Amino acid sequence: MASLRSRLNTAPVTSERLELVSMSPQFIEALLAGRRDEAVAEGGFTFPESWPDAHDRGFLNFRLRQMRERPENQEWYVYAVVLPEGERPMIGHAGFHGPPGANAVKAADAVEVGYSVFVPYRRRGYATEVVRALIGWASREHGIRRFIASISPDNEASLALVRRLEFQEIGRHWDEEDGEELEFELLISDGA
Ligand SMILES: CC(C)(COP(=O)(O)OP(=O)(O)OC[C@H]1O[C@@H](n2cnc3c(N)ncnc32)[C@H](O)[C@@H]1OP(=O)(O)O)[C@@H](O)C(=O)NCCC(=O)NCCS
Repeated sequence: MASLRSRLNTAPVTSERLELVSMSPQFIEALLAGRRDEAVAEGGFTFPESWPDAHDRGFLNFRLRQMRERPENQEWYVYAVVLPEGERPMIGHAGFHGPPGANAVKAADAVEVGYSVFVPYRRRGYATEVVRALIGWASREHGIRRFIASISPDNEASLALVRRLEFQEIGRHWDEEDGEELEFELLISDGA
């Protein structure tokens, strides 16, 4: 049990300005139950009064159920994006849709990225930095070479982000919750 717990307390993924802290089931449980002080202690960062909204509550509940079924997959789910200074504010969240194979194009060797930055922190390059950090982590730690992103055709910010990172558009699909989405893929070489 001790070894399982220490394995699940995955080390933060760091980038130039940010830390990505994996959200544990204990963190999400405390947050959703309104035990916010406990969540702050568990996560090691602070978050806005207004978070999570109804959408993110549903999303976090879903991730919690997935982690209860497969605790070993925690590192493939959701990370708090944290500014590592002062009260360590959370400025957004990001992660993968799940382990390799959990992606819109059902490619066994690919992972899909997801990301969101809270409004006051947008347009400072944070999301770009986060996605680069996730790609670097997955390629270093797990040898992943293929990354997917699904984006609504009217989400200009997210489209600009993936294009800047040189993802290529490869198709489109209909998502029950989000409607039409464009599929993007990034293939990286072994040396990247
Ligand atoms: C998409 C999102 C994560 C971008 O976060 P961000 O930290 O502002 O992104 P970056 O600062 O790295 O900017 C990426 C680039 O997108 C473009 N961009 C950002 N906001 C834009 C907007 N409102 N309109 C047009 N282009 C925009 C710019 O080219 C920007 O670079 P620039 O500011 O140097 O011009 C953020 O807008 C967000 O959280 N949106 C809601 C959730 C969401 O849509 N997530 C993605 C789902 S696929």
